[in-house]
Amino acid sequence: MIFNVHNTEYESDISEVRELIFGQGKKACVMTFGCQQNEADGEKMAGMLSSMGYLLSDNCDECDLILVNTCAIREHAEAKALSLLGRFKSIKKKNPELILGVCGCMAAEPHRADMLKNDFHYVSFTVEPNMLHKLPTLVLRILKEKRRTFILGEDCGDVAEGMPTLRRSAHRAWVSIMYGCNNFCTYCIVPYVRGRERSRGAVEIIAECRELVTSGVKEITLLGQNVNSYRSELSFAELLEQIASIPGDFLIRFMTSHPKDVSDALIEVMAKYTPKVAPFFHLPLQSGSDRILKSMHRTYGVEKYLATVEKLRGAVPNIALSTDVIVGFPGEDEEDFLGTLRVLEAVRFDNVFSFLYSERQGTAAQKLGDTVPRAVKDERMSRLLELQGNISYEVNQPLVGKTVRVLVDSTSKRGEDDIYTARTYTNKLLHFKSKINKTGQFTEVKITKAGAFDLYGEQI
Ligand code: 5AD
Ligand code: SF4
Repeated sequence: MIFNVHNTEYESDISEVRELIFGQGKKACVMTFGCQQNEADGEKMAGMLSSMGYLLSDNCDECDLILVNTCAIREHAEAKALSLLGRFKSIKKKNPELILGVCGCMAAEPHRADMLKNDFHYVSFTVEPNMLHKLPTLVLRILKEKRRTFILGEDCGDVAEGMPTLRRSAHRAWVSIMYGCNNFCTYCIVPYVRGRERSRGAVEIIAECRELVTSGVKEITLLGQNVNSYRSELSFAELLEQIASIPGDFLIRFMTSHPKDVSDALIEVMAKYTPKVAPFFHLPLQSGSDRILKSMHRTYGVEKYLATVEKLRGAVPNIALSTDVIVGFPGEDEEDFLGTLRVLEAVRFDNVFSFLYSERQGTAAQKLGDTVPRAVKDERMSRLLELQGNISYEVNQPLVGKTVRVLVDSTSKRGEDDIYTARTYTNKLLHFKSKINKTGQFTEVKITKAGAFDLYGEQI
């Protein structure tokens, strides 16, 4: 079901919080870990806090309300959030009125929510990603009744429209188009913490994009756990075409895609609208072994994956490709791993994000055991990084001497000539010297040097 938060108690709860904290200069901050979806959720949290009358700050030490927006994708991500929460214990001691909320994917894991409730007495509430619109209600409860709330277990299968967004950037914007995931890859916690797939209405998405373009946004990234399985009255390809048809000089990106859902129609739209639809595709491979892909429940094999890469490269000139790979999935042997390296050699990705397998509680892969010893995982990872480092370096060399159009992000260093960071249309990080500040604008840069992970250049 799609509903608007303004038709719920949301509005009155916001007003009540506003009245309660009026004139007190209360400050709040949101600390976000993890993926772009979490970044986008964090901007909604900031939007709601601002509507409630809180002043947003980046310094949590001076805040009256802190939201920790957590990630649960791997153990390491959870450990980081937990250690941050540990640090807030002393802030709470100094300021007993501090409101501390835990949001994001960790808050949606039953064993973590229990732990936060029972062992972290200074945590005021948890709110899972699908219940974000309840934030004003939770803040109100703790302010008015000093009642800690852990709302896990309520119905989470809806799409909430109408939450305000306080965007961190004036020129790049995230637009969530769908939530959740139905794929149940056996290693992945996402379907458990973000629920089943549901798509926003196309009309609302297109209206939001139009508004963003009118307000000067130069890059829109359409977000979803599985964007290309978007479905409303439009398919993802149709939605993308409609957004690309909005007049204006702006760039469209999307993430993340599942290889099984890369339709011919999507490739056609990308080809037709390149470079307004950025010539870049993040296509998670996960493994280059059919046996492991099957055990991961990825529903494609290496051959099909490579055929999709061929099609993309045939249709969109100079398209850049990146991928995700998991190293050390249960049962992965040397031959399976060599299969992964062979795919990296065959595709020559521009960029590879590689992760050590991390067992997640409640997933199907947990039953397989974490069978690959840590030392073996580490050794495979370093071989993978070395191979891909060389490939990325080689892939970037032909760019030296070329002039490319980039969107300028920020100044990274001031000096005689300031150094700016930017992203190419193909999503490569570029540092360049310039005497003119073009932050938030497109500009032309000549590439003078290329490493594996960064490009360097000069404004022309
Ligand atoms: N262990 C390691 N990596 C994982 N990913 C997802 N779940 C796990 C896990 N349990 C990786 C996948 C995914 C990316 C976002 O994180 O590669 O594409
Ligand atoms: Fe996780 Fe697979 Fe869904 Fe991606 S597609 S969120 S890896 S279950």
